[in-house]
Amino acid sequence: MTSSFPHYVYCGFPLEHPIFASGGCAQTLEDVRVLARSTSSMVEVGSVILSKSGRPGNAGQTYWSDQRTISFNVRNIPCPSEDYYRQNLHEMVEMAHRFRKILVWNIAGQNPVDFACAVRLGVQSGVDVIVVNAGCTNLWSDHKQKPTISHNSISLSAVLMAVQDALSSSRTPIDLKISPVENIQQREKNAQMIFNLVLRFPCVKLFTLINTIPNKVGFDERGFPCINSSDVPGGFGGMGGAITKPLGMWYVVRFASLISQNSALAQHVFTIRACGGVTCGKDVVDYLRAGRGHVCAVGVGTTVHDYGVRALSDILEEFTSSS
Ligand SMILES: Cc1cc2nc3c(=O)[nH]c(=O)nc-3n(C[C@H](O)[C@H](O)[C@H](O)COP(=O)(O)O)c2cc1C
Repeated sequence: MTSSFPHYVYCGFPLEHPIFASGGCAQTLEDVRVLARSTSSMVEVGSVILSKSGRPGNAGQTYWSDQRTISFNVRNIPCPSEDYYRQNLHEMVEMAHRFRKILVWNIAGQNPVDFACAVRLGVQSGVDVIVVNAGCTNLWSDHKQKPTISHNSISLSAVLMAVQDALSSSRTPIDLKISPVENIQQREKNAQMIFNLVLRFPCVKLFTLINTIPNKVGFDERGFPCINSSDVPGGFGGMGGAITKPLGMWYVVRFASLISQNSALAQHVFTIRACGGVTCGKDVVDYLRAGRGHVCAVGVGTTVHDYGVRALSDILEEFTSSS
């Protein structure tokens, strides 16, 4: 894989440029084809939770955006069945490689076993990197919200142990994606907990910061709830879009400084994929600047959901002309 910006290296893979379509933009072979042909510098498929018959996602209106500043979603990880991925994941990898891009397998789960199964399938299928999405805040069942894994050290540790075991002798790098915490004391504690914990798991090479901000509520211009699903009480949704960038920036600054400060990292080198509120080239520049050399890539979620993959070309053009 060639690179015209050789300093953007994701887990040892040089990227053509730092901009990519973040988790939630591709679930199927057809989606992978679209991303492989797009400007995205890598192809991320998922999040996926493996299941016998596939996951339909929550009912009703589960995504809303004002197409400018803010989005809400409570999709609940809709995706095809385990059989589908057993049959198609290898082809997804080959397709990404044909376009000289890496295939990133983004997995989620309700428990450590879900993650372990998905890791094994990813390794068998030859994926390049596995994102452990410990930051999904939109999993609901029987009107109850599943706890967010990255907010709890015991859950996170159990998932990372299962992931490391499932990797066995494979060196497939793990990228840990987390959900933000809003209360500043809790946020600081959570960041340090996550950082200290991953030092015990050499398979973790990366952080993806951040997933959507949990449990927000909005109304549209006609006064209807932005999220309206019989599966989710209160119209709650994870918030994305431009409004989330300052919190994403906090995470990037804080984790970059934890990485720089920690001497134990001599044999454990981390990089960061930044995400949250990227709508233009300047946002990419800001995240790279905030990361002080530790950010290797910058993800775009809401803007791709609103405008499709062509938005990535516009962002890249602005980024290239401003850097
Ligand atoms: C509709 C939608 C679905 C998403 N689904 C996933 C997902 O399945 N897995 C994941 O890791 N992140 C998912 N995300 C989170 C995004 O990848 C990103 O981390 C977050 O939205 C912040 O970026 P943004 O402000 O550009 O949207 C989703 C976001 C949106 C808006």
